Amino acid sequence: MDFRLTEEQLMIQKAAREFSQQQCLPGVIERDELQKFPKNQIEQLADLGFLGMMTAPEFGGAGMDTVSYVLAMEEISKIDASVSVCMSVNNSLVCWGLEHYGSDSQKQKYLTPLAQGKKDGELYLGAFLLSEPEAGSDATHQHTSVLDKGDHFILNGVKNWITNGSSASVYLVMAQTDASKGPKGINAFIVEKNTPGVTVGPKENKMGIRGSDTHAVSFTDVVVSKQNQIGADGFGFNFAMKTLNGGRIGIAAQALGIASGAYELALAYSKQRQSFGKPIHEHQAIQFKLAEMATRIQTARFLCYHAAWEKDNGMDYTLSAAMAKLHASDTAMWVTTEAVQVHGGYGFVKEFHVERLMRDAKITQIYEGTSEIQKMVIGRSITK
Ligand code: CAA
Repeated sequence: MDFRLTEEQLMIQKAAREFSQQQCLPGVIERDELQKFPKNQIEQLADLGFLGMMTAPEFGGAGMDTVSYVLAMEEISKIDASVSVCMSVNNSLVCWGLEHYGSDSQKQKYLTPLAQGKKDGELYLGAFLLSEPEAGSDATHQHTSVLDKGDHFILNGVKNWITNGSSASVYLVMAQTDASKGPKGINAFIVEKNTPGVTVGPKENKMGIRGSDTHAVSFTDVVVSKQNQIGADGFGFNFAMKTLNGGRIGIAAQALGIASGAYELALAYSKQRQSFGKPIHEHQAIQFKLAEMATRIQTARFLCYHAAWEKDNGMDYTLSAAMAKLHASDTAMWVTTEAVQVHGGYGFVKEFHVERLMRDAKITQIYEGTSEIQKMVIGRSITK
């Protein structure tokens, strides 16, 4: 067993760390306060090749492995999870899904600019539209419908909690073709945002990842070309689930980064802050907290890297991805809460980053499958 990272992986980690320190840290508090989408930072990610990290170079991607992607997600999430969620959705849910299940012409037309993050010099992002007002965890109960009109489809319905909802140019939309067939009646489609009948709702005012671009999107008699169906008839739910397995590794890495960022801040603060005549890390009450944070983070890291390694080695990573997301997101919530505690009153005000990290941590237990859904996936897998 070799736990060392390769030269290339170390280089990616370093590049991501420098990017997040130099480009994400300045203004992160203000962007959170103003709910400002980090467009500059996302454009720079495109230039770094980080929006299509795992996509093959022939489709405009960087052709890196999943471990490198996890390392980059971890570093960027230490500073700004609003940037990293945008990166994660574009990489794992959009580019990966299209590369593995899209047709050749879909890849040429959509995947290449999505992996580059640019088209005609403008930012070009994707979004993944599965959740609905009444279909979150219970994702097979899609109300968005699609009618086959012979030479085209007609799409109607509402999707919500859509990351990159207004900044994306391309949507991957799951919709019900035949409700009597259950999950096998669901199909997946590529829909361009500027198609007539597509309406983007107002930006959600969120507790955390406030810079990220979360909207409801509705479809009224939207005409979708037959060429834009992904995979064979009835493949849409499987497409969503298989794509989400990789997405869950990305969110696990995001949670790991949020936890690590909060821990590093708490450790530094504990060395600088004095109480009862000594730095607070010399008090056992604080030292035990730091010890437990470090240990939980390391277990989350092993689970994330292992899930990524399984994916890179062509193994089934459904179980390891669910375990990584479950554990890393719980770790992020616990570590950030403790990091606020280490900071005392300073941890409760917005000038100190741990306050934001604690708010950002919460969503990692909810999106791309709640912790309860991860337990379902794990439970079904270990008992079948
Ligand atoms: N990997 C591969 N296939 C899977 C799968 C997985 N993780 N989970 C389910 N499937 C397959 C099943 O094998 C089954 O396929 P077959 O019929 O071919 O055997 C099919 O999907 C239906 O599954 P179930 O019979 O188990 O259906 P269910 O309704 O009992 O449970 C569920 C399904 C696991 C609960 C699923 O609905 C689920 O994962 N829900 C959570 C949805 C989710 O993660 N949403 C996130 C929204 S996207 C988002 O957050 C993006 C963003 O913008 C940040």
